[in-house]
Amino acid sequence: MNSNQIRKQFLEFFKMRGHAVVPSSSLVPDDPSVLLTTAGMQQFKKYYTGEADALKDFGSLNTASAQKSFRTSDIDEVGDESHLTFFEMLGNFSFGGYFKTEAITYAHEFITSVMKLPISYVTIFGGSHGVVKDEESRAIWNSLGITDVREEGIDDVFWGPTGSSGPCGPTTEIYCRNSMGQDIEIWNIVFNEFFYPGSREELLGGSDKKLQRLSSPGVDTGMGLERLAMIAQGVPTIFDTDLFRDLFDTFPSELDERDHRIIADHARGACFLISDGVRPSNKDRGYILRKILRRLIVFEHRAGEAINMFRAVAPLIVGAYHGAYPDLHLDTILIEWDKEKAKFLKTLKLGLKELGKIDAIDARSAFRLYESYGLPYEILKEMGGERAKALNRIDFEREFAHHQEISRAGAEKKFGGHGLLLDTGELKAKDAQELAIVTRLHTTTHILQQALRSVLGTEISQAGSDITAERTRFDFTFHRKVTPDEIASVETLINEVVRKDMPVSFQELPKEEAQKTGALYFFREKYPDCVKVYYIGESLDSAFSKEFCGGPHVRHTGEIGPVKIIKEESCGAGIRRIRAVLAH
Ligand code: GLY
Repeated sequence: MNSNQIRKQFLEFFKMRGHAVVPSSSLVPDDPSVLLTTAGMQQFKKYYTGEADALKDFGSLNTASAQKSFRTSDIDEVGDESHLTFFEMLGNFSFGGYFKTEAITYAHEFITSVMKLPISYVTIFGGSHGVVKDEESRAIWNSLGITDVREEGIDDVFWGPTGSSGPCGPTTEIYCRNSMGQDIEIWNIVFNEFFYPGSREELLGGSDKKLQRLSSPGVDTGMGLERLAMIAQGVPTIFDTDLFRDLFDTFPSELDERDHRIIADHARGACFLISDGVRPSNKDRGYILRKILRRLIVFEHRAGEAINMFRAVAPLIVGAYHGAYPDLHLDTILIEWDKEKAKFLKTLKLGLKELGKIDAIDARSAFRLYESYGLPYEILKEMGGERAKALNRIDFEREFAHHQEISRAGAEKKFGGHGLLLDTGELKAKDAQELAIVTRLHTTTHILQQALRSVLGTEISQAGSDITAERTRFDFTFHRKVTPDEIASVETLINEVVRKDMPVSFQELPKEEAQKTGALYFFREKYPDCVKVYYIGESLDSAFSKEFCGGPHVRHTGEIGPVKIIKEESCGAGIRRIRAVLAH
């Protein structure tokens, strides 16, 4: 069966069983808390929660779809045997129409009778986080003659929520054997019994938020078409299926298999993203598209001026998928491709020349090449070869985030309306020069708080702070005057940290996990689900100081220079106020 036939058979199978076949939603989701559509259930979230009525909208409580999906989590893995960014998800869904018995029985029938594939084994949820072991699914599988039923944990067999909240629940998964004798997960059947008012990270991290029972439980299933085609066609990898082989034939034969896979994956992704209205830019989905387009442009450039791989492969992609996804639009795809290619080629050539001059590429030089010539991380890593060996994504992203913060701080001026370049409430600067000083004083304030804790005891806590280009002013709870000796000790400690030139970094973590690191934060403040923990030292564990904070900060404490405490006074009952300045 070719892939178009498999997709058709799947939708027919569920149509015959009372499901409304719903077209794929766009890769750009309605849900602002997710960047791209990553699963078939996303367009149906509101039907599980009861906010919308499936009977009214689809004429049935049960639906089926083939959904275009894009996952960025594995983008670095693309090129191996199994990872993709863009893929198609086949799924059937029920919003209070049916539950475990029907869902498992349908899946079993489709795999064994329609696809005629043997099932190697299935998994069920072993129970945790207050959710019981799924013995009910085991019994249903057993009744269908499947006896190899394996229990797994919340990481593997518990779906969702996607985004910042949503339906979720235990899953049961079907494994089938490929032509290399490996058992591959091909179908994930989710029993959406709960609504979770937070993110998946919060749920797994043991947040205080509780799973809430949905008023009527639902079914959500996902089966990757590429994997199913691989098993059905008896080929060793997804890239040996009909979905990819035709595309590979258009690529120059000098390129190896890994290159073919990356080009085919990225070309498919680019065609679908552009057709759904995404345009190359430097943020969010636009940046994802730009990254994959630029990687394709580099491949073409390396293969030679006369090579036009994307223009050759795009019509094949559109031709193969047009029946299932009529939104695909070849003209628009090629126009956007030509524009990005023309724009990027000029700087690519300059950037490659510049790259050639650098002996060892580190995060800083990589970021400079990105900023000046638009050379993304993947390209620098690839084109840099041995010289880019020490370059890693974490350092690069850190450098990237640091610069984004500075420019975000800059952008606030335009909207703040009182002539300041930066005004976070705590930090105020009127221009770039002041911003640099305020950034140094901001890191000083973190060091100061920790130094006060070391000298006066950990019962002190921050009561407020205010930072301008002149000084930092820090208020903290303490029951008496701080003695001159104690002030001297605090100042000495601050200057020691400065002299040691310790690195300043941050890690972004789900709030609960961030709290567990021991980082300081305001108990009264409402923080977002994901927070940044800034730390001073080599690692978060061994850090001298760690605090919940949005930045900006210096990268090394040495940038601060000598610090002087100029005043200590009372500022209300049980609250002290300290002012510190930079010596130069
Ligand atoms: N929503 C189920 C899946 O994508 O696997």
